[in-house]
Amino acid sequence: MKRILSGIKPTGELTLGNYIGAIKRFVELQQSMPEDEFYLFIADLHAITVPQDTTELRRRTRDIAAMYIAAGLDPERTVLFIQSEVKEHAELGYLLQCYTHMGELERMTQYKDKIKKGESNLTSALFTYPALMAADILIYDADYVPVGDDQKQHVELTRDIATRFNNRYRDFFRVPEPIIPKVGARIMDLQDPSKKMSKSDDNSKGYIALLDDLQVIKKKIKSAVTDSLGIVQYDPDNQPGIANLLSIYSVLSEKSIDDIVLDYASKGYADFKNDLAELVAEKIGELQKKYNEVIQSGTLDSILDKGKETASRVAYRKVEKCKQIIGLGRKR
Ligand code: TYM
Repeated sequence: MKRILSGIKPTGELTLGNYIGAIKRFVELQQSMPEDEFYLFIADLHAITVPQDTTELRRRTRDIAAMYIAAGLDPERTVLFIQSEVKEHAELGYLLQCYTHMGELERMTQYKDKIKKGESNLTSALFTYPALMAADILIYDADYVPVGDDQKQHVELTRDIATRFNNRYRDFFRVPEPIIPKVGARIMDLQDPSKKMSKSDDNSKGYIALLDDLQVIKKKIKSAVTDSLGIVQYDPDNQPGIANLLSIYSVLSEKSIDDIVLDYASKGYADFKNDLAELVAEKIGELQKKYNEVIQSGTLDSILDKGKETASRVAYRKVEKCKQIIGLGRKR
């Protein structure tokens, strides 16, 4: 039996990028791996590495939990929990910092991007964040970590940290594999297709939030930046806007990019965008309906309580053992 684990940070609104790159993937994996275990969590400790509004943070944490279920994850087969409710994440996060090099953290793209933007008062937790992410994964002996392209580097660092620890002491941490989708691993901003669609973006026209009004969603797709070539084809270098829309179309329609290109061979961008706008609104509309049902059903808290209990049990054992191996405390 394999264990699959992933998490989402409650910063900003969940976007179509999160849905395509992560949430939809989790559901597909769960359906195609009926024997395996799924651990999914809301990474609230990661969210507070940058300032958060207290009320919003709590609301978004619940929103993500509800969205996981709304997207089709089976609550019976998912250990769904909130990261901060399992104390051992922070504990192992600290321990793993002692096996992570400054140089490794300095090479992380997300950190480098923040530095490049000249943001001031960055917290030390933002810098050590990848060690906490390694803890999130290694604490449960996860085999596979499905993530979008932007998180691949963090999973690779996790592998390095686990290997370093294992070489120093003994074979203790399972070395996880990232699972990155072939199409949709990096959904781009609709207004600037050179950067990834992000929930923390200031320009709301560039991203589609999963709880956006459906008419607004259609408008955002129709006003997505394209190019002047006028040919619907997959050429990310020369037509990054169209390539991005094709990826979205392909994942949501479950058709190959080649088939979609054929369908639009003699049509223009307007037709393509209109059809895509309808498709995105239809899929997100279904998701929103289920999301509202989950919120109203009142079952979320019992799912999260159960998840917390199971995750805590597993995490406690792993961290106790880890401390013992290192030589902390009195137990041998
Ligand atoms: P986060 O919250 O930024 O993103 C959650 C997931 O969504 C994917 N994603 C995208 N995929 C495609 N296109 C996009 N534009 C896009 N934007 C986001 C991300 O790759 C991710 O899979 N550090 C993580 C959360 C985390 C985690 C973990 C993940 C904490 N601990 C342990 C896996 C395992 C993060 O900030 O993801």
